Amino acid sequence: MTSSDQPAILGGQPLFEKAQHLVRPILPFLSDMMHGIADLYSSRMLTNQGVFVQRLERRIEKELGVKHCALFCNGTTAIMCLAKALGLKGDVLVPSFTFAATAQALQWIGLSPRFVDIDRETLTMDPDEIEAAITERTSAIFPVNVFGKFSEHDRIYGISKKNGLPLIYDSAQSFGTRYKGRAAGSLGDAEVLSFHATKVFHTFEGGAVVTNDKQLYERLCKVRNFGFEGYLNCVEPGINGKMCEFPALIGLCLIDQLPSQIIKRKSLSENYISILKDISGIHLPIENKDVEVNYAYFYVVIDSEKFGMSNIELYYALMAENIVTRCYFYPPVHRTAYYKRIFAGKLPDLPQTDWAATHVLCLPLHTEMEINDLATIKHGITRCQQNAEQIKETLKGKVPSDWDALVNSTFVDPHDLYILSKQKK
Ligand SMILES: Cc1ncc(COP(=O)(O)O)c(C=O)c1O
Repeated sequence: MTSSDQPAILGGQPLFEKAQHLVRPILPFLSDMMHGIADLYSSRMLTNQGVFVQRLERRIEKELGVKHCALFCNGTTAIMCLAKALGLKGDVLVPSFTFAATAQALQWIGLSPRFVDIDRETLTMDPDEIEAAITERTSAIFPVNVFGKFSEHDRIYGISKKNGLPLIYDSAQSFGTRYKGRAAGSLGDAEVLSFHATKVFHTFEGGAVVTNDKQLYERLCKVRNFGFEGYLNCVEPGINGKMCEFPALIGLCLIDQLPSQIIKRKSLSENYISILKDISGIHLPIENKDVEVNYAYFYVVIDSEKFGMSNIELYYALMAENIVTRCYFYPPVHRTAYYKRIFAGKLPDLPQTDWAATHVLCLPLHTEMEINDLATIKHGITRCQQNAEQIKETLKGKVPSDWDALVNSTFVDPHDLYILSKQKK
């Protein structure tokens, strides 16, 4: 084996000198920021629905074609406030194949997330499973548009109306996505957006609820502002969920970059597809003609039999190459230690969710990447595949081998593996 074929996890030289991160947030031009900062210094209006927050809200409404946008300090608080403003009770149908915040935010305010299985192709909630899960305790349907995709809206919308349930989307990852030509954010009765730094459009931290329902919007404005109506009276228990002026300014300075960001991410994603398509055991995302994605993430599906190792083993092996990937969403939310306790061992049966969690791997994707970086990542993947047996042997006992091992946290931090391989030499 030549030294260039030796994976770093087995003692070879890492392919990247510095970490090639999964995401790398874009930044506004400093000159654009300086004008706004000068305004902040002179007005001293730093928060409480200042001009930048109001301007960004109106801009997002225009961008998405919705009547109302309420900005929040983050997407998690936006979910909590939306559920409160809708007066949800009992169970909310959610997927487990999502970021923990979707379920945790509901749990935090006393609701019960009822986990529903996903569809393998879309990786979003399966409409048939939604229909089967509705009971008299169900108060809303809350699908998540993961990876910048969009759910099977037409069918899910029909189910929600037939059952008289609000359809709210967690579109945290889908700002800039379109379903049948309509912007993500404009399809549900209300939708939650996240503007966390890792998102395609961001405000460092931030979030929003967008809706066409004026009454709901007015309730949201109260809930996010301590329950105040006017200056004197609190009419309900609220929270401080407001976005302040600085992140709103960042958003105003970044929002014009969204189209060019999506174009660059699309081109990188297409390049990934063309260079990875012939690797045995790697399946590429299936295109959905109804959805124009925002290319928030680039993911592949690893068939461990054919590829030679699982998504989690490849994640560890690539980490040693300084290639930071993520097995989103591993573990799926219902398999985390918290829900294992809540379900007292009687976990819901979600076979497609388990399948996705043990097969999907997100590769680095950000707009500072060059074509050469993608070629190096492909080299990393192939040299790991060529040495799969040895890598699996090295990882034995160090990576979670099943869900119980994962919850018991007996495995090695992936960042330590390269160090381990060096110590062995
Ligand atoms: C699917 C999903 N839901 C909710 C959130 C929570 O958003 P935030 O980080 O802005 O609180 C995130 C992400 O960060 C997310 O990816």
